[in-house]
Amino acid sequence: MITTILSAALLSASILKGDPDVLDQTLDLNYTGLAGQAELNKNDVLSFLNQRDIREQYQILHETLLSKLVAEADSTRRIVRGRNTSIAAVPWQASLRRRGRPICGASVITPQWLITAAHCLLSARPSELTVRLGSSWKSHGGQLYDVKECFVHPRYNAHSKQHDVGLMQLYATLRFSASVMPIRLVDEGIRILAGRPAVVSGWGRLQEKGTGTQFLQSTWIPSIAMKQCRRSGLARSSIDPSSMFCAGSFEHGSPDACQGDSGGPMVMDGVLVGVVSWGLGCARGNFPGVYTRLAQPAVSAWVHQHIGRQGAASGQGEEL
Ligand SMILES: *[C@@H]1O[C@H](CO)[C@@H](O)[C@H](O)[C@H]1NC(C)=O
Ligand SMILES: *[C@@H]1O[C@H](CO)[C@@H](O)[C@H](O)[C@H]1NC(C)=O
Repeated sequence: MITTILSAALLSASILKGDPDVLDQTLDLNYTGLAGQAELNKNDVLSFLNQRDIREQYQILHETLLSKLVAEADSTRRIVRGRNTSIAAVPWQASLRRRGRPICGASVITPQWLITAAHCLLSARPSELTVRLGSSWKSHGGQLYDVKECFVHPRYNAHSKQHDVGLMQLYATLRFSASVMPIRLVDEGIRILAGRPAVVSGWGRLQEKGTGTQFLQSTWIPSIAMKQCRRSGLARSSIDPSSMFCAGSFEHGSPDACQGDSGGPMVMDGVLVGVVSWGLGCARGNFPGVYTRLAQPAVSAWVHQHIGRQGAASGQGEEL
């Protein structure tokens, strides 16, 4: 079931008419061309996203966003120290809601599936969950979609937070557009090199004790070598290198994901490599953020087992 709240086009029109500063400062990109192609290839979107030229286009768009974020690194606020960002710049970003209240982020990976953190789904029944897509605003715009089923990774451990990944299947089949697009999952086994810039986005808190934001935020953060991460303020034993990786910085007040961003995307080179999982406080300094490692074989195989089924059911013959 789909509930139209207010069209994203109306909203962006009102932003355009408003304060030119806001227009200036909201990060934007144009996925329109890719959206048309994705829509035409939605029956086998995983293969589509895997095509070399499509990967390159995602990568170029990602580089553009990154260069804007890096250029503005001195700006002082959001995600923690993020930037106002149009949904058009990260059109896979979803706001996950439980009984109408925003609880987490998620990412679109096929026309029917979204990926999030396991801990976002733990105590919820699918009938309580909806996702808002296609809006830069947390609580209005875009469209709301009901969740049909959700799945938590079988090896998710609520205590250790290992394998913190979950999947949601929608009743509806999404129509891709400039503001609703899938993102390609990282290939199994791909290693994340230290010091690589990644983009995280969400509507989480701006500060550790602050409230969530109404307008979507994004920021860039570098990946951190496991050795260095385990030497940080995070307890050494709490980091499982096979299913987690770290990103952020050791400087106080540097960008980080914060509460409310959980389950949201961490994108590197135009590919979804991580899910925002956990941290201690936000941007405290010696605690980088911890992300679910989607390239881990146990995670990657499980995800493909589920999202592949959709292809099989619709006669696409996707391998399990
Ligand atoms: C971010 O967006 C909000 C909501 O439109 C606005 O109030 C705020 O001024 C914007 N901030 C910047 C730095 O553009
Ligand atoms: C986005 O690109 C398309 C062509 O791919 C163009 O028609 C459209 O006007 C662009 N939209 C914006 C807002 O720049």
